[in-house]
Amino acid sequence: MASLKTNNPIQLVQITDTHLYGDADGTLLKMNTHDSFAHVLDIVREHEDSIDLILATGDIAQDASAKAYEHFQKEIKILDAPFRWIPGNHDSAQVMAEVAKGSAVCEKVIQINNWMIFMLDTSIEGQVHGRLAPAELEFLEENLAAAEQEDSVDHILVCLHHNPIKGNSGWMKDIGLHNKERFWEILSRSEKLKCVVYGHVHQELDFEHNGIRCLCTPSTCIQFKPNVVNFALDPVNPGYRTLQLHEDGSIDTKVYRVEGEIFEVDYSSGGY
Ligand SMILES: [Fe+2]
Repeated sequence: MASLKTNNPIQLVQITDTHLYGDADGTLLKMNTHDSFAHVLDIVREHEDSIDLILATGDIAQDASAKAYEHFQKEIKILDAPFRWIPGNHDSAQVMAEVAKGSAVCEKVIQINNWMIFMLDTSIEGQVHGRLAPAELEFLEENLAAAEQEDSVDHILVCLHHNPIKGNSGWMKDIGLHNKERFWEILSRSEKLKCVVYGHVHQELDFEHNGIRCLCTPSTCIQFKPNVVNFALDPVNPGYRTLQLHEDGSIDTKVYRVEGEIFEVDYSSGGY
């Protein structure tokens, strides 16, 4: 477990759903994902002075290739901050672990000042939906209980790739976290939990569920239109989220999107 002391508030950045290909010319619904990722990194540099930790919440690669993960690692260095990543449905947890070998990138527990952050793997190789496997549920239960007992921890933030509440569009019905009831039942035992952070549905959300703040963040590439029946892309630009975790447990957060750039995207697509 990493333990980091920094100034308050703690400065986090969430980057999600980069969908990178091993080939730099790779496109997702005609969008070049290397290019859109680079644009998002530019605006992060513009807005953030110093970042304590970057949360990369899955779908790092579209093709699960080592080259795509290596590209992510190489490019993110521009932000001069540590990062942790978790797999999404397009990723291979195994390839990510191999690429991250010898580093702390796959670490699942990070304490920064009086906050504890958990990174959960909800991926099932070959499936769009997510599930917390028995070992992952056990990890969450044990670590959450330990954090409740730990005097140096006052607040907890949990990260996962899949949406742990039903998606707001008809086509999203089956793509979220399938054992979400179990997830929320475990979380309900925590008095220190403040926030759940995720990606997967490529849109900005900030709401409360069971009294816990839930944040979802735009992808660094294509955006999914909220509140529709069938799959549709949203003509808004890629972005990222910044989070300031305060000592008293409060959170300031904002989504920034790339401005003044027109990306090529296939808006007529019926799926991805
Ligand atoms: Fe994604």
